Amino acid sequence: MNAAPHNPSEVSTHGSVPCELLHVTTFDDVNCDGRSSGRGEVGRIIRRVEATGSTNADLGRMANEDPSLPDGFVLVADRQTAGKGRQGRSWSSPPLSGLTFSVLLKPDVPPLRASTLPLVVGLSVAQAVSGLVPECHVGLKWPNDIQIDGCKLCGILCEMRAEGDRVRHIVAGIGINVNLSVTDMPPEIAAIATSLSIAAGHSFDREKVLDAILLSLEETYLRWLTQGFDSLRPEISKFDILRGNPVTIECGAKTLSGIAYGIAPDGALMVLKSDGTMEPVYSGDAHIVSHSNSDLP
Ligand code: BTN
Repeated sequence: MNAAPHNPSEVSTHGSVPCELLHVTTFDDVNCDGRSSGRGEVGRIIRRVEATGSTNADLGRMANEDPSLPDGFVLVADRQTAGKGRQGRSWSSPPLSGLTFSVLLKPDVPPLRASTLPLVVGLSVAQAVSGLVPECHVGLKWPNDIQIDGCKLCGILCEMRAEGDRVRHIVAGIGINVNLSVTDMPPEIAAIATSLSIAAGHSFDREKVLDAILLSLEETYLRWLTQGFDSLRPEISKFDILRGNPVTIECGAKTLSGIAYGIAPDGALMVLKSDGTMEPVYSGDAHIVSHSNSDLP
């Protein structure tokens, strides 16, 4: 759920962000079901707080202060008082019915390569959600909104810190509407948002939702590290709800219109303009103007 301006880009480089952890009720390091993979890092350590401003701001600050904080460290909050969204918006969700958490990723890659990570995180969530609600149509709206039947279920905010030509860390923040009912949502949001419980008609265990997303992220992140973004593009394409549709993209003061033509190897959304040229778009908000039946190659 989005509102007021805050942070200018979906993958932004920031310094240390002052933000207090408010009430730390539990400080448990949880080994989620003991799973392990070649890397096995995502979700190996989960820190849980009852309330905070923003898990993204906290985790960014923690990673700046403690360079030994491991790849895959997760910070979960039951309640956020200053949740940050993409494009300078805020993110709010009622305590305990939504899931708000941030994952620390520390790939040893140049910043340019990391620009595809928001899509990788989006794919991971889309895959996990389709496993949780197999009866629903789950979509990925570039760069990384997750939708069910055209309504927003989940938003992702990735913030990067780089030094020189290396990434120091990326904080991938995920906000997902788990057990929200329509009355939990502000009226202006209710028509365009959904939750897992609304979509499936029953409530979900938030721990299990978290675990499914972390497991999926671990697998997808490992593939991205070892085989590259290109190996994930066919799966992204399957979830891509923009592909083949007329779209407008708002990027800052500029608005671009055309047909969404899929995701390029560098993560850009390719837009076929009316003059026949193709334009790559690297950040912005995309809207489907009308649904098309056209099949793209
Ligand atoms: C968006 O759709 O605009 C992205 C929303 C991202 C929200 C999540 S909630 C957990 C993490 N902490 C934040 O402050 N923001 C992200």
